[in-house]
Amino acid sequence: MDKAELRLQMLNQRNTLSAQEILDGSKALCQLLIQLPVYKKSRVILSYMPYGKEANVMPINQRILEDGKTLLIPRVKNATEMDAVPIDALDSGLVEGAYGIREPDPGLKAISPKDIELVLVPGLAFDKKGNRLGHGKGYYDRFLEQCSPQAFFIGIAHAFQVFDTIPSEVYDKKVHGLLTEKEFILL
Ligand SMILES: Nc1ncnc2c1ncn2[C@@H]1O[C@H](COP(=O)(O)OP(=O)(O)OP(=O)(O)O)[C@@H](O)[C@H]1O
Ligand SMILES: [Mg+2]
Repeated sequence: MDKAELRLQMLNQRNTLSAQEILDGSKALCQLLIQLPVYKKSRVILSYMPYGKEANVMPINQRILEDGKTLLIPRVKNATEMDAVPIDALDSGLVEGAYGIREPDPGLKAISPKDIELVLVPGLAFDKKGNRLGHGKGYYDRFLEQCSPQAFFIGIAHAFQVFDTIPSEVYDKKVHGLLTEKEFILL
């Protein structure tokens, strides 16, 4: 199966999830994440605003703020690049951006990718070698490339989106761990 076919299959399968399943999953994701030493020690964390039936990290985003850490959210810069922008609340400072995804207000200033300690990476599919399938524009591949070699990347997905092997290319940036509603997998 090629990347395009797998993307479609994952989008279709994700569409069958109920709001309740996603809500239950979002609480489980948060409970699993906050126990991890890498979460506890990270002060600057890039998360995302869930779109459609993506794994819901809103409880995690809330918790990052409550724990006094810096919460960064992606903001699309152009057709190929995104920035990481600190926000201090989830109910203000966000606007509807490209692709209908909520993103930080254009007036807020981005930080250097080098300052990020932990990245929660959304994806349509992951494999146990750390490969990730996104929406096919390469935004995360280009962004993660600019992060510090010490930064830790956790792929976030529903459990059915984790495979033994998915198609990948040399430019695909790997994640170091996977978090689903069922478990955390250190790779
Ligand atoms: N580091 C890079 N530098 C230049 N081009 C890149 C880089 N990474 C990816 N690309 C380009 O981006 C295109 C899309 O990449 P890919 O199919 O891996 O997207 P994706 O990782 O699934 O999507 P996304 O990261 O946006 O969710 C590729 O065809 C490739 O040419
Ligand atoms: Mg890629």
